[in-house]
Amino acid sequence: MKRQKVCFELQVFNSLNELSQESKELIKKAVEARKNAYAPYSNFQVGAAVLLNNGKVVIGNNQENASFPSGLCAERVAVFQAGAKYPGETIRSIAISAASKRHTVDKPVAPCGNCRQSISEYEVRQKSPIELFLMGEVGQIIRCASIADILPLAFDTSFL
Ligand code: THU
Repeated sequence: MKRQKVCFELQVFNSLNELSQESKELIKKAVEARKNAYAPYSNFQVGAAVLLNNGKVVIGNNQENASFPSGLCAERVAVFQAGAKYPGETIRSIAISAASKRHTVDKPVAPCGNCRQSISEYEVRQKSPIELFLMGEVGQIIRCASIADILPLAFDTSFL
């Protein structure tokens, strides 16, 4: 038996001002996107902004449904839209921001398991890391260098 430890490093920023102009702008786009979320059931509005290697930014927000499981998270709306609009284009970064109509979201929101898996598909395919910026409505911002960091032991095409 051999023990293995899986760990990763993330960066925590106290304010947007600590980030590069490019990252700040991407986060602002995620904030704008979340305002157009269709989230009448959860009242939890999430926005995602995907920065591509060609400089284009594609946004998404959560789209809910009266049949709850039929809805989709902001992250998947955004990456699927990026894949549809710019097929094969490398994704550099994804910024995510969330707000609730019920309380102030004061900590960074992390993508759900399904979204991690979906984002991982693009990272594996493009063979370069996708950087993530996570934030709530206010408070700290977390940067992860790669989706693989928050989805260890991921399932991918190599198993098929
Ligand atoms: N949601 C997202 O859009 N992204 C996340 O990272 C977490 C959850 C959405 C799904 C649902 O519309 C609402 O937030 C509450 O779960």
